Amino acid sequence: MSVALRAQLLLCLISLSTRTGFTRYIEENDAADGLYSLLTLAQKRESEGFIFRRPLRCLDMLATEGYFTFVASRPQLACAAFIIAEPSEVISLELSDVSIDCSAGDFIKIFDGWVLKGEKFPSSYDHPLLPHERYTDYCSSTAPTVASRSSQNVAMIFFRIHSPDSGFSLTVKKLHNPLPCNIMSQSPEGSFTMVIPHQRRNCSFSIIYPVEIRLTDLSLGEAKSNEIHPLKQMWSGCSGSGDFVELLGGNGVDTSKMFPVADLCFSSSGLAQMKIGCDNSVVRLVSSGNYINRVTFQYRLLDQNELPKTRENSLDNFCTVE
Ligand SMILES: *[C@@H]1O[C@H](CO)[C@@H](O)[C@H](O)[C@H]1NC(C)=O
Repeated sequence: MSVALRAQLLLCLISLSTRTGFTRYIEENDAADGLYSLLTLAQKRESEGFIFRRPLRCLDMLATEGYFTFVASRPQLACAAFIIAEPSEVISLELSDVSIDCSAGDFIKIFDGWVLKGEKFPSSYDHPLLPHERYTDYCSSTAPTVASRSSQNVAMIFFRIHSPDSGFSLTVKKLHNPLPCNIMSQSPEGSFTMVIPHQRRNCSFSIIYPVEIRLTDLSLGEAKSNEIHPLKQMWSGCSGSGDFVELLGGNGVDTSKMFPVADLCFSSSGLAQMKIGCDNSVVRLVSSGNYINRVTFQYRLLDQNELPKTRENSLDNFCTVE
C-alpha cells in the first residue's frame, strides 16, 4: 500500500473516529493501517520536539515518556490511547488528578498489552497474567494511586467520560527490560535478536505490516542441519520438537489466531527468507525450557508490487507471497 494511500486512510480514520467513536473504529477499521498511521503521527510529533507535556486525545498513540492530560469537551464514551516503547522497554503508567464519576458510568482502565478488533496482544496463551488480571480499573481500585507496569513494550488505556470538563492525567515512563519476550515493532524495518534462556515460554515479535523476514541466525539447543519447512502437511517438520521458530501471518493481533507460514526447528545460520503479505507478520519462538534458544532476524516492508494480488483464504497460501 502506498504512502499516499496510507495518508488518506489516516484522514479517514481521524474523521471517522471523531464522528463515531472508538468502538466502531475497533470493530470496523483496518486496524493495522490505522495503528500504523497513528504511530507515524506520534513519531512525527516527537521529531518536532512536541514531547513531554501535551493534551491527550480521545484516540491517541503515545510513543514517548511524558505527562498527558485529558479533559472531556463533551461526553466521550469510547476513547483509547495506545502506548508503545522500544523492544527492550516496558511501560509504567500512573493516573493522577482524576475527576470522573464512576457511579455515572465513567471509567478509566489500563490494559497490559493492546486490544484491537477484540483481539489481544500478547495472546492470552503467551501472557504471564490471566486475562482479567491484565486490566487495572480505576473505579474498582482502592489504592491511593492507580498505576500499572506493562509486561512488554505495549500497553493501553481505555476511558469513558460523560461530563464535560471531567478528565485525568497520565504519566508515562519507560523502564529497561533486560529479557524482552513479547514485542510489537515500532517500525516496518529493522532487525532483532530474541533469546529465551532455559524458560518454558513462547515469545512473539509482531510487525503490523506486510514484510519480508530473513532469519540470519538460529540456535535451538542441539545443532542439526539447515532446513526450512514451508507448511504443506500438518507440521511434519517440527511438531515433535519442543523448541522451534514459527513464522505467522494474519490480519489481527492475536498470534494464536494467526496462520503458520513456515516453521524452523534446526539450528543454523544464514538461512530462511520469507515474504508475508499480511497486515501482521510474527516471528514466534517456542521454547521447552531445556535450552537457551536464540533467533536473529531482519525485516523490511514489502513493496506494492510484492504484495499478493488476491488474498485467498486457503490456509496453504494465505499471506504467503512467491
Ligand atoms: C508454547 O507453544 C507450544 C506450541 O504452540 C505449546 O505446545 C506450549 O504449551 C506453549 N508453552 C507455553 C509455556 O505456553
